[in-house]
Amino acid sequence: MPDWKVRRAPFIRTELTVPGDKSISHRSIMLASMSNGTCVIRGFLPSEDCLCTIAAMRALGIKIETPEPDTVVVYGNKRIFQQSERDIYCGNSGTTMRLLAGILAGQPFRSRLTGDPSLTKRPMRRVIDPLTQMGASIRAEGSGDRPPLVIEGGPLKPIHYFSPVASAQVKSAILLAGMFANGKTTVTEPNQSRDHSERMLEYFLVRPIKDELSVSIYGGQTPESRDFTVPGDISSAAFWLVAAAVQPGSHLLVRNVGLNETRTGILGVLVRMGASIKEVIENDDAEPLGTIDIRGDRLKGTTISGKEIANVIDELPILAVAGALAHGKTVIADAGELRVKETDRLAAVATNLRAMGAQVSETEDGMEIFGGAPLHGTRVQSFGDHRIAMAFAIAGLFAEGETIIEDTDCVATSYPGFEQTLEKIMSTEQKKTQVPVITTLPKS
Ligand code: S3P
Repeated sequence: MPDWKVRRAPFIRTELTVPGDKSISHRSIMLASMSNGTCVIRGFLPSEDCLCTIAAMRALGIKIETPEPDTVVVYGNKRIFQQSERDIYCGNSGTTMRLLAGILAGQPFRSRLTGDPSLTKRPMRRVIDPLTQMGASIRAEGSGDRPPLVIEGGPLKPIHYFSPVASAQVKSAILLAGMFANGKTTVTEPNQSRDHSERMLEYFLVRPIKDELSVSIYGGQTPESRDFTVPGDISSAAFWLVAAAVQPGSHLLVRNVGLNETRTGILGVLVRMGASIKEVIENDDAEPLGTIDIRGDRLKGTTISGKEIANVIDELPILAVAGALAHGKTVIADAGELRVKETDRLAAVATNLRAMGAQVSETEDGMEIFGGAPLHGTRVQSFGDHRIAMAFAIAGLFAEGETIIEDTDCVATSYPGFEQTLEKIMSTEQKKTQVPVITTLPKS
């Protein structure tokens, strides 16, 4: 369980790319597996979470090759899966377990889904309820609705489900189950969550019908096999974006990154806080992708709440760090979902920020951060959560003295290579890099 030692950063004047988007990588493997032929997925994120999805599809009889770590060849089997001979291990990945539950609900066999100690503490009622209404029989073997899950799949009936949470995992599980239902399945969510499943279904020529906060799908359609390129993950870029934003004189370009507007909420938040950002979309095939050009400044606090939360759900730990480094008060509200992520992220962020000298008061569904007090280096925990480890590595770049992040293995679930980029940012070498100026006008 290695620790990281982080020291103060010089100015950030560099350009970088980040590995493939985690959400999109999972979905590309699942939909390609259901397709009618061979799909080459490029830019795939070879992280532990996404490798669990590959292993799960293989266990269900799909042939998958990985000629390169980020290139995956999936031989789709026309929506036909075989029963796995053993339990399907989903590791730390809520996306693998919840989306897979949707697919398995429609299969004429029994499956058992397990996970690591963190995943086996996460709520599954949100997928068990709708999938049971569709006709699957799902038993949670953990306490309450916690995994392992035993799923007896079978013929499904279409439903219109009004989800109580804005969750792309719930929406996607229902849409995937809807692919096996006899008729039109609709899911309506309280706020817009990330729409990668809808976009990818469309790309694979399965026609979802979108109507404001509702998405419908007709069962029985087989995805048309196509090659797919995964853009860089804006949730991974978020750490470097904040590192650049909080420092006047910093200038960073992130290239080849996903710019889907259900994921770019962090850019709006950082602009409100005072950063200068240009966003240039260079390609918009299945997913928009391009370059983010960000210049740092003295940031001021802001409020992040309401509809915006779903759009920045994975970025809230690093935005809380930005709040601690900004002047004035930052309020995060309506973010109770953070309590049921890989760890209780509200408690973890508040504990670590306080340990570093910030003034924070935690609320039931958020926190108030009174920014501007100098941070000091100390030992902080990751709580086994990749985004907590990375957010506090960035905090360490702006703290007096040395910050030690304990138990950083978890970062492999989403961002292999983070540590190397961190080393590069901490070294003075990158100061010499001239950042090219983007002249293209950003999308209005
Ligand atoms: C994800 C959706 C979000 C996000 C998670 C990935 C997805 O979770 O936090 O990291 O790929 O659908 P919820 O659906 O629980 O909000």
